[in-house]
Amino acid sequence: MSNTNHSLESIVSTLRTTRNADDDSLKILIETSQNCQCLFDAADSVRRENYGINVYVRGLIELSNYCKNNCYYCGIRCGNPVVERYRLTDDEILNCCEIGYELGYRTFVLQGGEDGLFNDNRVCKIVTEIRKRYADCAITLSLGEKSETAYKSFYDAGANRYLLRHETANDAHYAKLHPPEMMLENRKQCLWNLKRIGYQVGSGFMVGTPYQTTDCLLDDLRFLQELQPDMIGIGPFLSHRDTPFASFQNGSMQQTLRMIAILRLMFPYALLPATTALGTIDPLGREFGLKVGANVLMPNLSPITVRKKYELYDNKICTGEEAAECRNCLAGRVASVGYEIVTHIGNVKR
Ligand code: 5AD
Ligand code: FES
Repeated sequence: MSNTNHSLESIVSTLRTTRNADDDSLKILIETSQNCQCLFDAADSVRRENYGINVYVRGLIELSNYCKNNCYYCGIRCGNPVVERYRLTDDEILNCCEIGYELGYRTFVLQGGEDGLFNDNRVCKIVTEIRKRYADCAITLSLGEKSETAYKSFYDAGANRYLLRHETANDAHYAKLHPPEMMLENRKQCLWNLKRIGYQVGSGFMVGTPYQTTDCLLDDLRFLQELQPDMIGIGPFLSHRDTPFASFQNGSMQQTLRMIAILRLMFPYALLPATTALGTIDPLGREFGLKVGANVLMPNLSPITVRKKYELYDNKICTGEEAAECRNCLAGRVASVGYEIVTHIGNVKR
């Protein structure tokens, strides 16, 4: 056994037993080009201890691709004049829930750009109606930065969970990915507000964004240790042709898989999705994600007619003709790696 392998193994073992490691050890795991099978195996075994072979599914409904923000990486940034904008009607949203419920989804994720026309009243109205119709389902919102009052009113209307990735926990790096009016501090404040209100909170970051260093990823892990979120969504950065980052390289799948595995060891209870971005960078990316600690899938429930328009990055999967088949397709994919989709609300196990 080589020295490096030996030290990888001892780092993994420390991380598994203490859910923590010193900065230098974490950096070795984040950066290594060594075979990380011991990391992946440990992550899968911790996943099985906590969640067995269960995979939870969340039906993702993309409400609107209007966005007032101008993040440099994102295909639906307001500065992109090429994207064809759309908004779902309340009826279309409820119809997606109805189809989703029939298919076995017990969590609906309402996601969208920061669209002024989905104002607080309208969101409350939609949440109230979904809550009334589906008492046994979780309602997850992913609508960006809002006031604490707005978050509270959505919660009181029946929303249970909120997803808001911090994107990067390093201030200087945050400023390289976003225009000056966007601030990491506000993002973090939103996450703390959501927690205080009582939401199950999801955060997360992209792997391989332009200007990201190992220290940035370490900052992400340390911030998550503070926040202790219920869900952590990560995926590789993928460039979009009509953004300022069009010519930057995509993130790496291997590094994303290592980060998922590290997160599983640090947060044994967490809900970790194998994301669409991971399935886009490699046809088997989501399957690999499941094998290294991920336990959630978030298939698209949006009407097929709008899916292509919610293109955060190039070549996003499940936007074409095959999209109606996602549920069956996923069942097969999950079974192929030895796990099982469950029809279950899938709350976090703390
Ligand atoms: N590549 C990968 N992920 C992206 N997201 C946005 N743009 C991209 C991109 N180009 C992610 C962000 C956001 C989530 C909804 O999608 O992390 O929070
Ligand atoms: Fe959408 Fe396979 S998951 S087609």
